[in-house]
Amino acid sequence: MIDADNEVVQTDSAIIRPLRGRVQFEHVDFQYDSGDAVLRDFSLDIQPGENVAFVGHTGAGKSTIAKLITRYYEFQKGEILIDGHDIRSLNLNSYRSSLGIVPQQPFLFSGTVLDNIRYGNQQATLAEINEIALSIGQGEWLESLPEGLNTDVGERGGRLSLGQRQLVSLLRVLVQKPSIFILDEATASNDPFTEAQIQDAIELILARSTSILIAHRLSTVRSADRIIVLKEGQIIEAGNHDQLMASGGHYAELYNTYFRHQSSAYVEASRDMFAAAGA
Ligand SMILES: Nc1ncnc2c1ncn2[C@@H]1O[C@H](COP(=O)(O)OP(=O)(O)OP(=O)(O)O)[C@@H](O)[C@H]1O
Ligand SMILES: [Mg+2]
Repeated sequence: MIDADNEVVQTDSAIIRPLRGRVQFEHVDFQYDSGDAVLRDFSLDIQPGENVAFVGHTGAGKSTIAKLITRYYEFQKGEILIDGHDIRSLNLNSYRSSLGIVPQQPFLFSGTVLDNIRYGNQQATLAEINEIALSIGQGEWLESLPEGLNTDVGERGGRLSLGQRQLVSLLRVLVQKPSIFILDEATASNDPFTEAQIQDAIELILARSTSILIAHRLSTVRSADRIIVLKEGQIIEAGNHDQLMASGGHYAELYNTYFRHQSSAYVEASRDMFAAAGA
């Protein structure tokens, strides 16, 4: 996303600060240059502070929605409103600086963990960053880094595990304090220890930003206020986890084939089964 060409149409350069974080899609049509319509007459209203998780099979349009909000692509019809303002009328740099984005492959540059976190907010002091770092799992994740915050991450973060890179990119958002948080979650699973710390960081961000979560982890889905089930660019179901499970539709099916395997009850039951089989 960072390298994407900027082909969007701007109609004005309004600076709105701070953004409250309401995001509205109104009858939006969108297709990429090549290919069929991805969104057709798509409408959705996300309230300031709301945490919305998108789920759906591959190609459903989840990342596309995030790319329209981040203004990496121009839509063809309808309107996208941010705090009630036409998204095309907002100053692009100022608007983007209110977005905290964690892509599927977190981007780290050569330097220390500290440099990479501070990238979210150049004004952040060492004391602030330390405090935030220590608030995640009581700072235990720092102990697995040879020099703590001063550890060199290597070329593109290559010396860190994927889970550690995810944590650094979440901490970057925590010091940034954006109005809108956009998470395109990685599918790769981490060890339970790293998972718990990632969950800590995500929850801190959810508590204070409007959040657009492209969710692959069960815990992220469950912490959303509203789950939107997408299929071929259409919203086919919406509600919270319990409501959607009770209605026994597409989400319940997705849960049973995909998310259920991550639940601790499932993991423990299969562990017991293995133990029993071995005995
Ligand atoms: N850059 C692109 N150019 C052309 N078509 C694209 C592009 N990116 C995505 N598409 C198409 O748009 C549709 C929606 O893709 P999108 O990436 O939004 O799906 P997704 O729900 O995020 O899937 P996944 O779970 O695999 O990430 C798909 O049919 C895809 O092939
Ligand atoms: Mg995607």
